[in-house]
Amino acid sequence: MKAEELRQKYLDFFKSKGHTIISSASLIPENDPTVLFTTAGMHPLVPYLLGEKHPAGKRLANIQKCIRTTDIDEVGDSTHHTFFEMLGNWSLGDYFKKESIKWSWEFLTSPKWLNLDKNLLAVSVFAGDENAPFDKESFEIWKSLGINEKRIVKLGKKENWWGPAGESGPCGADTEIFYWTGDPQKVPETFNDDNDNWVEIWNNVFMEYNKEKSGKLTLLKQKNVDTGMGLERILAVINNYNDNYKTELFSDLIKKIEELSNKKYRENKKEMRIIADHIKAAVFIMGDDKGVTPSNTDQGYIVRRLIRRAIRIGKQLNFPNQLWTKDLTEIVIKNYQDTYNELKKNKNFVLKETEKEEKKFLQTINKGLKKFKKIKGKFKSGKEVKGEDIFNLYQTYGFPLEMSLEELQKMKIDFDTEKIKKEFKEEEKKHQELSRTASAGKFKGGLANAKEETIKLHTAAHLLLASLKKVLGNHVEQRGSNITAERLRFDFSHNQKLTDEEKEKVENLVNDAIQKKLDVKMEEMSLEEAKKQGATGIFESKYGEKVKVYTIGEGENMVSKEICGGPHVKNTRELGKFKIKKEQSSSAGVRRIKAILE
Ligand code: ALA
Repeated sequence: MKAEELRQKYLDFFKSKGHTIISSASLIPENDPTVLFTTAGMHPLVPYLLGEKHPAGKRLANIQKCIRTTDIDEVGDSTHHTFFEMLGNWSLGDYFKKESIKWSWEFLTSPKWLNLDKNLLAVSVFAGDENAPFDKESFEIWKSLGINEKRIVKLGKKENWWGPAGESGPCGADTEIFYWTGDPQKVPETFNDDNDNWVEIWNNVFMEYNKEKSGKLTLLKQKNVDTGMGLERILAVINNYNDNYKTELFSDLIKKIEELSNKKYRENKKEMRIIADHIKAAVFIMGDDKGVTPSNTDQGYIVRRLIRRAIRIGKQLNFPNQLWTKDLTEIVIKNYQDTYNELKKNKNFVLKETEKEEKKFLQTINKGLKKFKKIKGKFKSGKEVKGEDIFNLYQTYGFPLEMSLEELQKMKIDFDTEKIKKEFKEEEKKHQELSRTASAGKFKGGLANAKEETIKLHTAAHLLLASLKKVLGNHVEQRGSNITAERLRFDFSHNQKLTDEEKEKVENLVNDAIQKKLDVKMEEMSLEEAKKQGATGIFESKYGEKVKVYTIGEGENMVSKEICGGPHVKNTRELGKFKIKKEQSSSAGVRRIKAILE
């Protein structure tokens, strides 16, 4: 089965069960300073899981682009990826365990849908602990579907509990479905989650609790269902592959990597998987309409690390001495652009930025090599090689540990690889702790306060966009925003530096709107209607979908109308005084403003 057919089948199935299909949200969360990426389909839905009304209703399904950097050490095996697509369905205070479990089982095993062999499936349920009880209901539902008790394992919080991602938020027990990817003739009667041949394919979370900052669980206003199934895994399973990289979602990339390295996949699986995974993830992050480029902070830093690690491993595999990222980038875009149109739209941007980073890294490596030669004498003189020296080389020149080790090897001097690695890691840890302490200071104001402040800055962002359009022209479009409790960072399309006069005009327009004490009104309407009314916003939604539109001011005092998930303040008088602190270039054709409310 092809990926596109599978995506469609999944959506059709849940449509037939009364679900509305919603679009994939951006990989870069809007206005959520606590995380860098969308890590699961539930992530953009948190306000609705907490009780806010969703314009598309109580039953939703979609295919969400996700990035998980926490799994990065596992990338290289056959089932973990940095970028993946999650097939998800949700009940927002509507159906609960019974329907959810039954539908998952029906979709997987019915001959009309995926027709998987029931004998190769097993499940786990939450065993219970001091805070929440054993999920007997799910256990019984599975049994009633005819699953042998030996294939229903009870596991603890580590395995069968989901969320919250941050300090507080919606969470609950989950039940997971596993598929036997080993020899079907040898499928064990009893399910044991330690056996890697059992691959988790679907997770159904029953979100009925809110975890408070103190750690206490309270019942949510409503009982929700949040499910997630990795497209790459299920596609491998239905096509009888025990390796996601053999599916069409990766096979072209692997083929190209085999060509570039003149080596076989079966002898270099781990390295080739990492290269394919990392380049794909970098392409999706940069291709996400928010103009992320490789840099030393935030999402850009992750992109930089992904590209550089891929290049480094390419060197280990003896890729030819020429620029090659373009070859793989083009394959990713070609294979995904019909499903994710933003990749087609941003193709040139992605190609250019990837290659720029590739060139930069090659320069870094050359500089590092020169520096290495300089300190070579120190090592040659019989002085012990210290992890600290190697770390400094990395810290100052970006020269990677692995390359230092290779250089030392070439010098044929005695050194202890494990000891250097250990010392290097220790230095790195010290360094990370330092930077973590520095960023922890940022949240001194407390998170409760932080929430109110971010809501205010979010409304200010709408006023800012409207004012920029007025002062600079209608070509101005939002390219991304990031809000912390302290400041608003706003990226927009414009080719020149703003003059002092322009900045002042923009600031004044925003402050005028604040002084006019304008009401902020929310309405739900179809995307077509919103466009007809001239609403701005990043149009992630598909035609026919219902969206929320926030309007600031009325009649001739209407200053802004934007498609947006919210939340916002009720009246602009709550904002205080708006001030632009900085205006600078963000990337080609994109300017960045940092602003605060005083
Ligand atoms: N949010 C759940 C997961 O990501 C479904 O596994």
